[in-house]
Amino acid sequence: MHVLVTGGAGYIGSHTAKALAAAGHVPVVMDSLERGHRWAVRWGPLVEANLADREALRRVFADYRIEAVIHFAAYIAVGESVHQVGRYLRNNFVSTLNVLEAMEEAGVSRIVFSSTAAIYGDPKQVPIPEDHPTAPVSPYGESKLMVERALSWYAACHGFSAACLRYFNAAGADPDGETGEVHEPETHLIPLALDAAMGRRPPLEIYGTDYATPDGTAIRDYVHVSDLAAAHLLALDYLRGHAGFVAFNLGTGTGVTVREVLSTIEQVVGRPVPARECGRRAGDSPVLVADPRKAFAELGWQPRLSSLRTIVETAARWHTTR
Ligand code: UFG
Repeated sequence: MHVLVTGGAGYIGSHTAKALAAAGHVPVVMDSLERGHRWAVRWGPLVEANLADREALRRVFADYRIEAVIHFAAYIAVGESVHQVGRYLRNNFVSTLNVLEAMEEAGVSRIVFSSTAAIYGDPKQVPIPEDHPTAPVSPYGESKLMVERALSWYAACHGFSAACLRYFNAAGADPDGETGEVHEPETHLIPLALDAAMGRRPPLEIYGTDYATPDGTAIRDYVHVSDLAAAHLLALDYLRGHAGFVAFNLGTGTGVTVREVLSTIEQVVGRPVPARECGRRAGDSPVLVADPRKAFAELGWQPRLSSLRTIVETAARWHTTR
């Protein structure tokens, strides 16, 4: 099957392209390369275009026998989104409408969407189930929620089958070392802490040590990027037998603090992570932990590489060999 993978030159997109190819599919990557990487496209053709380009989208459906879409392409920096609301909504939401219209024109109705725990905002209940109220605290989260809403209408009115995968904290790297995390600028905890340990960057800033958590630092649910990739294939299969709209949390159900992440990194790399304590980062929730039981039960998904140790080991290997 030919699957259009928008944003397939990015972090989660490239790991998913690899998983698609391993399952015998052809990932047709469409990516502007504004934030994606040409080197990360190795498992199928690359169509270098922006999703704002409706003609390019039309062409990709005509040129390849696309049967389903996995839609990753988006800006992902929560902090940046606060300063660039219009840019985030246009790129993440308006461009998605172009994808949906091109799908409709081409008679393609199956889509897996890259959503996020950020749509829950400050959770009232942890672990967070899928029916938890949505109340994003950033334009980034809002843009992803707007896409989810659009998808639910496309499902209700145009017969689409749409699965929204709400990732918690994607982390780690391909165990074979063929792709991994490279964001510019980097804002994520694990790559920044690895760089600090290797002396490539200044000491890590710990954002907030006064949270109501066991050691005062924020809690997150880190899930291995290859486990996320596997969930996309399961979701594609699931949608064959299920019309309509569905959302799944993808996390492990276990939260760890920033300090626990740093101490695992120190154990794995055998060096201290130089760090200094700072104030909280705007827009950060104290605790984000998934209730992933729906994905376990209905997709048959199980995280296999998502122990903190394996996440850090694969990330460290990727980082040190780059
Ligand atoms: N952190 C630090 N110092 C840093 C970077 C991060 O202390 O230099 C802390 C953060 O405050 C947070 C934790 O480490 O408590 C994880 O931060 P990340 O930036 O790695 O990830 P986030 O939880 O902020 O966000 C990630 C994705 C978003 C997604 C969100 C959903 O980047 O795209 O998860 O949970 F929306």
